Amino acid sequence: MTPATRRDLLRTGGLAAAGVGATALVGCSAPEKKTTGPAEVAAADVPVGSGKILEGTNYVVTQPTKGSFCAFVRACPHAGCDVSKVVESEIICTCHDSRFSISDGSRLSGPATAGLGKATAKASGDKVSITA
Ligand code: FES
Repeated sequence: MTPATRRDLLRTGGLAAAGVGATALVGCSAPEKKTTGPAEVAAADVPVGSGKILEGTNYVVTQPTKGSFCAFVRACPHAGCDVSKVVESEIICTCHDSRFSISDGSRLSGPATAGLGKATAKASGDKVSITA
């Protein structure tokens, strides 16, 4: 058996690195298909004092007080994950646990250094329309 050359070691390391990358890709879930245009939600589906993630869209809509609706862009300013939960009065990015206010999207805690981008929420009848 001949000793491994530097080239052999680099090739082996490269293949191992490619294997790790392939494994990581297999572990990723498919990206969510989202609409970037306007969205609409039933006002009754947005809890008072909390909010709702509009799955399949770029938006989270909140109702800090009865009949007052706000909307924000889901992209977290920390590293771009979508915020994915609203718990009571906090919008949460579960990637690294940044938390944002349902009232104005401002940062409450976590590694994000800015708040969520604002969108426009307009209530009409029993619907709320959201636009960028
Ligand atoms: S991407 Fe949201 S906290 Fe890091």
